[in-house]
Amino acid sequence: MAIPQHFIDELTARADIVEIVGDYVPLNPKGGSWWGLCPFHAEKSPSFHVVREKQMYHCFGCGKGGGVINFVMEMERLSYPDAIRVLAGKLGLPVPEDEDNGDQRKHRAHLLALNRDAARFYYDQLKNRSGARVEDYIRQRRIAPKTATRFGLGAAPDAWDELIRAMTERGYEKRDLLDAGLAVTNKTGGLYDKFRNRLMLPVIDLRGDVIGFTSRVMDNSTPKYLNTPETELFRKRSILYGLNYAKTTKRPNLILVEGNIDVITLHQAGFDNAVATMGTALTEEHARMLAKYSKELVICYDNDPAGKDATQRALAILKHAEFNVRVLQLPMRRNETGELVKQDADDFIKNHGAAAFERHLSESEEKNDYRLGTLAQNYDLTGDQGRLEFLKAAVGLIAGLDSSIEREIYGGKAAAIAGVTGNAVAHEVERQRKTQFRRDRRQEERKYLAPTVNLQPKQRELRYNNIRSAMAEEGILRLMLLDPTLFRGIPDLTGQRFSAPLLGKAFDLLKDRWERSLDAGLMNLQGEMTSEEMSHLVHIASKPESLANGRQALADYIGIIDTETLKQAGSGDADPLLAAWEMFQEKKAMEEKR
Ligand code: UTP
Ligand code: MN
Repeated sequence: MAIPQHFIDELTARADIVEIVGDYVPLNPKGGSWWGLCPFHAEKSPSFHVVREKQMYHCFGCGKGGGVINFVMEMERLSYPDAIRVLAGKLGLPVPEDEDNGDQRKHRAHLLALNRDAARFYYDQLKNRSGARVEDYIRQRRIAPKTATRFGLGAAPDAWDELIRAMTERGYEKRDLLDAGLAVTNKTGGLYDKFRNRLMLPVIDLRGDVIGFTSRVMDNSTPKYLNTPETELFRKRSILYGLNYAKTTKRPNLILVEGNIDVITLHQAGFDNAVATMGTALTEEHARMLAKYSKELVICYDNDPAGKDATQRALAILKHAEFNVRVLQLPMRRNETGELVKQDADDFIKNHGAAAFERHLSESEEKNDYRLGTLAQNYDLTGDQGRLEFLKAAVGLIAGLDSSIEREIYGGKAAAIAGVTGNAVAHEVERQRKTQFRRDRRQEERKYLAPTVNLQPKQRELRYNNIRSAMAEEGILRLMLLDPTLFRGIPDLTGQRFSAPLLGKAFDLLKDRWERSLDAGLMNLQGEMTSEEMSHLVHIASKPESLANGRQALADYIGIIDTETLKQAGSGDADPLLAAWEMFQEKKAMEEKR
């Protein structure tokens, strides 16, 4: 690990998890812990809680849990070392960095420099003969030279290794080109340019660095768009094309479109608030970024079934976002043969101009109007049956709205659409909310109480092979956390004897820390475990365990592990004697506990 462990120990000791989590989630004290709505899944009643004494958080609903560093990692989507840096920043502690880390950062800077030089290379090609075709294409798409320059558009030559040659001449290694995703190897190990004969669109992050490229063919060949592969610099789930400019827009909102060229055309037409994902669905991470830069988002996806589908999915992601969301549906266009065809933002601006787009923008629908409207289209509202079915569906939608004012407004609108009184709808909505609320609660309680569901870890990779042994190992871990002195007399109990590798590893790490007189709480394992592993360990620790009969319980647990090991070591055939002995042991343990 790049950051020294003693510093991490100091940091976890100093940070107060209740305070740090409280910055993100409103928390209320109840029964010795602090409760709030889980930031990692949608819920209406709090099952997320933070325990100050243990410096841990845990959600009964989604199972996420961990220490303060895990929390910052999950919340800010950071790596472990980056989360430590952020946390240290919050506490005003300088992070001692060592060599390794410097190396890693240098590598990143090196790749960024390579990307910038590559963008420069592609840009320069535009003026060369090799870029003439791309220049033509840019003109054909009606992108003005000024706009092209602003977006750094360039041309990948129609050749196998022009970029590789230019970049190696500048001193870059072949390894660098591969790491940046600019070159690929063929079966015989030869290296060639990833992007050939394409319009190049550099992707620029919020700091202004080129982190990768997207590119377009100039004919009908496929793939139409080709992106930099996922690299440490280029992570599509957090990229919003155009946000580097849109973040400083003076317009009152951001416009989310589907394509890169849509973004360019909109910016050129004066809508410098347009952004797009890299051809992928909107993620929570995107939503958080958007919320940071604007109070309102207008979704302007294609007006075809795929686009409508993507709109619904984006709305679902944005359900709990704290900004306004509107939907702009561009009209279909009648083509020369009289057919109705879809047009995207780029087509629309080119067909009808910026003023017409502005008008549609101002008429874009508030997201719930949009949802109600799309819903209404599915029913025949001229008949009673259709109106009734529409109302049922609408009540379901409206009951899911968080604010009572919204429920009232949209209840009224749904009523108007169906031609009934607002009162009846309002009544139905509140009734549905009550049953829904009860159902959610019951579901969560059931999830928490059902032992069979809880026995196995949520993550498939963590599944136990031997559930009986694993249950005993979990108990041992809990005892270790409650009272490590119990383990003083049994030096030969090590994680190696455990059937579940994760539990064995956790046990060894805790025991080792305790033997070195370091704090041996779960939170100290954050650096050694993935967030899934951490979540599972916190879940284990939250199960009941009593110290009243600590020594006996420990002996029983060890007994179970040994029996299971013996069983495993045997031929696998049922051994009646062993089974009988096992049952006897189990019975004895139960009696003794009572
Ligand atoms: P579209 O196919 O809707 O194209 O892809 P478009 O944006 O209208 O592009 P033009 O006008 O034909 O140039 C929308 C977005 O989906 C991603 C790209 O980011 C594109 O901008 N995409 C599309 C890909 O990643 N790969 C593809 O093969 C196609
Ligand atoms: Mn298009």
